[in-house]
Amino acid sequence: MSGHASIESCRDRHNEPVRTIDWRGDHIELIDQTRLPGEVVMLRIETVDALVDAIKRLAVRGAPALGVAGALGMAMAALTGDTVQAVRQAESLRAARPTAVNLSWGVDRARARLGEGPDAVLAEALEILEADVRVNHTLGSRGARWLLDALGKQAVNVQTHCNTGALACVEWGTALGVIRALHQDGALGRVYVNETRPLLQGAKLTAWELAQDGIEHTLVVDSAGPSVVARGMVDAVIVGADRIAANRDVINKVGTYPLALAAARAGIPFVVAAPESTIDPATPEGSAVEIEIRDPAEVLGTDTPAATTALNLAFDVTPADLVTAIVTEDRVLTTR
Ligand code: MRU
Repeated sequence: MSGHASIESCRDRHNEPVRTIDWRGDHIELIDQTRLPGEVVMLRIETVDALVDAIKRLAVRGAPALGVAGALGMAMAALTGDTVQAVRQAESLRAARPTAVNLSWGVDRARARLGEGPDAVLAEALEILEADVRVNHTLGSRGARWLLDALGKQAVNVQTHCNTGALACVEWGTALGVIRALHQDGALGRVYVNETRPLLQGAKLTAWELAQDGIEHTLVVDSAGPSVVARGMVDAVIVGADRIAANRDVINKVGTYPLALAAARAGIPFVVAAPESTIDPATPEGSAVEIEIRDPAEVLGTDTPAATTALNLAFDVTPADLVTAIVTEDRVLTTR
């Protein structure tokens, strides 16, 4: 399948909507996000090694989608019947990316059923997959309602960072789920999308999802993001999270923290939309989280002097006191 098609309009051979990641009887099928927005290419993943590779090169990415990938990867490992190897593969899946807690959460939940046999592991993984869809719709509606109530407005302009849409989950999205819910309710003006250097999840993925849904949006370079807030162009900033520490520090795509600072300074809500599975009670605060440092080659262009090095931090920590609200499928945690 290729071309500029939306996830919603893509259909599989059973005429079902294409999901970002799904289970196909004995293998995983996922959208290769490195090929978007040019082409919708489905990857057939048949081994844990292939899945680890897809996770590392961001063919599948976004915290909730990583949780599902981890769980389905464990199911694939369990179905080989080699439990010893499955336990080893759990570790390589968990280590594929360190920051989003959902990945290890998904692996651990599925691995806990290994003793009951492969079918139990698969059942657990499929429950995580289906729950992701329900959870995102619930938190999207709750977030939209909360935001309109908090602002006392009937329509809002918002800013977002990275990609938190259907592509970051199984369907729908977290922060983009809130934005979609606002749009459905006729309560959305314009969305300002940060391009999200260096891999451009905002420019390539979020813009693609918004364009396919006919949602008015404007792209800004990351360094202009705080200025969009300071200039009064948005009523709120809404982002997702890769991990939320016990003290409610929020770890998300690098570039989130400056937006939170700008929102606090401007006195507008900074809202984090994430499933409960992103809250990690075992992490006391943001400084305890391993921030993924990716290949400098993603940052260094061909025009960069040969002697120049790059620090490619993939995530940052937004302190809890800058966060107005954390919206999950179960609750709204208000902080600031
Ligand atoms: O490096 P990525 O693309 O996996 O980073 C994704 C993000 O930072 C998202 O904002 C976060 O996972 C929330 S996704 C619903």
